[in-house]
Amino acid sequence: MSKVASNHLTSLADDHFNREDWAGAYTNVEKELNHVLLHLKSGSVPKELSGKLYRNGPGRLERGGQWVHHPFDGDGMISAIHFKNGEVRFTNRFIRTKGWEEEEKEGRFTYRGVFGTQKDGGLFKNAFDMRLKNIANTNVIKLGDQLLALWEAAGPHALDPISLETYGLSTVNGALEENEAFSAHPRFDPGHHGCSRMVTFGVKTGPNSTIRLMEFGTEGNEAGKLISDRKDQFTGFAFLHDFAITPNWAIFLQNAIKFNPLPFIFGQKGAAQCLSTKANGQAKFWLIPRDSGLFANKPPRIIDAPDGFVFHHLNAQESEKEITINSIYYKDFPTIGPDDNFRKINFDLIPEGILKECRINLDKNEISTTQLSGQCCEFGTINPKQEGITARFSWMATAERKTGNGPLQAIKKLDLLNGEEFLWSAAPRGFVSEPKMIPNPNIDIEDCGWVVFFVWNSERHGTDLVILKAHDLSEQAKLELPISIPYGLHGSWVPE
Ligand code: CO
Repeated sequence: MSKVASNHLTSLADDHFNREDWAGAYTNVEKELNHVLLHLKSGSVPKELSGKLYRNGPGRLERGGQWVHHPFDGDGMISAIHFKNGEVRFTNRFIRTKGWEEEEKEGRFTYRGVFGTQKDGGLFKNAFDMRLKNIANTNVIKLGDQLLALWEAAGPHALDPISLETYGLSTVNGALEENEAFSAHPRFDPGHHGCSRMVTFGVKTGPNSTIRLMEFGTEGNEAGKLISDRKDQFTGFAFLHDFAITPNWAIFLQNAIKFNPLPFIFGQKGAAQCLSTKANGQAKFWLIPRDSGLFANKPPRIIDAPDGFVFHHLNAQESEKEITINSIYYKDFPTIGPDDNFRKINFDLIPEGILKECRINLDKNEISTTQLSGQCCEFGTINPKQEGITARFSWMATAERKTGNGPLQAIKKLDLLNGEEFLWSAAPRGFVSEPKMIPNPNIDIEDCGWVVFFVWNSERHGTDLVILKAHDLSEQAKLELPISIPYGLHGSWVPE
């Protein structure tokens, strides 16, 4: 496991940013706003850009003077950015989870966090407290008439899509057991070979792992209804954050990592801090046939996967004999140890994310892997119409440096066919969050549309919303939010 040093030694990454500028985004969100018109700082907002961008991420990082140990332990807060007739309005609201309500009343952390946040009072207070706080902070999606805030280890919270008011834990029309694990990374199949679907999963893990693969309708009467459902058991522990789909397959990558629960049980570490790379371990692809595809009801296929740790996949596609899957690989599982301060991490000591393409030969059960770019990246995305089929273009957040690790400061468009790149950078004082590619509804060209994302603007100590043209990343508009939002996780676009 990579140990993240807490010292202040100057690193190579430091040449491109000031650490205090970067860490300034880690603050509590103090206000909830309702449909506030955003101030346009430059450019213009296209009238064709019409709909809502929902974003989720940690919004409460401190209680009673105690800070979370890792930002991923922060309570989920939803932002809704409403684009209409060239105007942009902003609404934000915390998800009223059980833990949030309880801790809000107490004014302190009453739960341990998965990423190492401990309750006050040392080991005695933390040992044997195995309760998970569903913090609902990882993604937000619209399914039927419900907006769902997702956190992979437990059930989704349903919210009002307009006011963002929390309705409570959802079973998604009875599809889930109460508080059943439900991934934060659903994939939306636009219906290249049938009806549009939301494909997602839940994992139960231990010495063996069971994946429940679920497909929900997304249109008309079927919206939000569970259409297909299968369970498959695999050997070994699995930490599965994301997956990919093609018309016939759901593709999972079982990282070669192990889980030692003892430091968690005895109150020394958060559960995620107990994960570590398995020496001489072999990662595996688990290929589960989709019910709508040619191999429905057949057993899964298992094929060796490349070395390295993967959180996120970009996309997958298939031909008769081959599946191609693009993913962001880390040399090792990155973590922040119990004695480290997340604001002072040395980026040079954490592995960087590298985009690679892996071709899985289904006849020979063999793989071949190539690096697509050497520049550290995260939050890769494609035009959503290309989900599960060949995507020529990809957009992602990258470090400013060309090699090595660093905070995410730039947006890159990468042509997967010829390697051509376009870059837009917020460096040295700006830091980007996940970009979303929003296709132009009137022009059916893959890279025609916009790329929209938050930027932490450390110069004015606030959050900006930036809109770029997807084609060449030229700047379309910049708007200022009246509140500061910490670096977020994932979100989604809902057209008007
Ligand atoms: Co993710």
